Amino acid sequence: MPATGDDAAYAALFAKIERERGFRGNLYRQKCLRRRVGVRMRARGLTSIADYSALLDSDPAEYDWLLRVLTINVSKFFRNKETWDAIGNELLPGLLARGEPVLLWSAGSAAGEEAYSLAILVWERLAACGRGKVNGVRIIGTDIDEESLELARSAEYPEVALSETPEEIRQRWFVSGPVNRLKDPIRTMVEFRNVDILENRPDFEADLILCRNLLIYLDRPAQGRVFEMFVDVLRPGGYLVLGRVEMLAREVKEHFDVVDARERIYQRR
Ligand SMILES: C[S@@+](CC[C@H](N)C(=O)[O-])C[C@H]1O[C@@H](n2cnc3c(N)ncnc32)[C@H](O)[C@@H]1O
Repeated sequence: MPATGDDAAYAALFAKIERERGFRGNLYRQKCLRRRVGVRMRARGLTSIADYSALLDSDPAEYDWLLRVLTINVSKFFRNKETWDAIGNELLPGLLARGEPVLLWSAGSAAGEEAYSLAILVWERLAACGRGKVNGVRIIGTDIDEESLELARSAEYPEVALSETPEEIRQRWFVSGPVNRLKDPIRTMVEFRNVDILENRPDFEADLILCRNLLIYLDRPAQGRVFEMFVDVLRPGGYLVLGRVEMLAREVKEHFDVVDARERIYQRR
């Protein structure tokens, strides 16, 4: 991105946000983050970054609003049907048939929509095979945004989160009302944790990593580091599923076979 007069002001703003709240804005794509800061500045009627920075000092609650906008935690159950068809029909049957413990990780899980979508598919697959038990399957959702994680644990969703959910799944697994409440046992199948994937390698090994629509917000070196971490976390034969517009970094291609180029599904060698 060409240098502008605002560069120093944004750098100072992101350094301050990192100091106060630990969010490392310098590792994300700048154009996108700046646009989002602009959204908050307009909402507060401000036009200068210096004034907005001063506002953060006088009204620290603005940090919460800003981080909500910066982390872009929008998700839906079963978003991109074709990807979920591939996960349900091509990946899960083999993983679940292994007869060994299986760990499925939704990295950047937002309010849990993806992690619970996985749990529904796992449950239905095991039920279809006459295996009612999910003991050997761990599903972990992680995110950097504590508020999203709280929503995930509450397992209550607005209508819009279900707009891509097949009707029969909705009928079976949600109690509808002013909010849509996910039923047990799906709710209890997923564990949520706060993990900043730019900072920490989680303390588990995974058979499937679902990381969609997070890497696009990171700059290339940060993406590369996350991919290296995924290579380390994935067990041989495990799968990595990215978002539709995300690409495997060149540096890690040698560690993967392409399973489905369109759905961005890769298998660890
Ligand atoms: C656009 S949402 C994607 C949600 C879901 N994966 C999907 O595709 O529907 C991106 C999520 O990544 C999370 N996120 C951003 N930076 C992160 C980081 N460094 N570590 C962990 N999660 C992060 C955000 O908080 C947000 O919930």
